[in-house]
Amino acid sequence: MSGQAKIEPRDRLIVALDLPSVADAERLTWRLGDAVTFYKIGYQLGYAGGLDFARELVASGKKVFLDLKLHDIGNTVGKGVESIVKLGASFLTVHAYPQTMQAALDARRGSPLKVLAVTILTSYNDADVAAAGYQGHVADQVKRKSAQARDLGIDGIVCSAEESAMLRPLIGPNFLLVTPGIRPAGAASGDQKRIMTPQAAIAAGSDYLVVGRPVTEAAEPKAVAEAIVADITAAAK
Ligand code: C5P
Repeated sequence: MSGQAKIEPRDRLIVALDLPSVADAERLTWRLGDAVTFYKIGYQLGYAGGLDFARELVASGKKVFLDLKLHDIGNTVGKGVESIVKLGASFLTVHAYPQTMQAALDARRGSPLKVLAVTILTSYNDADVAAAGYQGHVADQVKRKSAQARDLGIDGIVCSAEESAMLRPLIGPNFLLVTPGIRPAGAASGDQKRIMTPQAAIAAGSDYLVVGRPVTEAAEPKAVAEAIVADITAAAK
């Protein structure tokens, strides 16, 4: 462990339901059963009935991370966040722009919803950031935007495990680092360029691990999820 919050190992695993339909999501969550307590719903399932499914997951006792990466004028973000609070989500992503973050924080006040910021998308390198009109290296931008998000009162960020290792000592223990790009030893990397095993990511300072295809495409998804939880447990000791 590297100075992060105290969370049960099983609750640190967030399975990304990157699936085309609610029927597929129902099948997978049924197969995973008690092995998984936390699910992420993003664009693909969200725009295919996934928000109603999110309500069902919450009603059945699961936690839901809505990875909607909101960014709009403050009024629109705030109204959207009010609806998301009513839905019962535990985590929500917004882009790390000050107005957007502040509007989300104002709208969730008094609720258990945690707001996570997306600093620089992990598919962006220095050239992509320059092409988008911003100056400076990705790592510097990530550090600056993370500190800005923390100072505004944002609960954490989505970042690679490499970024967790860089940020954890700078940002303190109470800022959540939520990390995709996780691959159990021997799993296919897919299109992820910077991958780490669950154990290494926890050791690097990540609080929550987001895992999609290694679980969703597995022949035995429950066994893979249990193996990831075991790996997290080993790192958390
Ligand atoms: O299938 P895989 O494990 O690569 O899925 C990772 C999940 O994390 C996907 O839902 C992806 O959208 C999300 N994610 C990511 N990189 C980011 C932010 C989110 O891979 N920077």
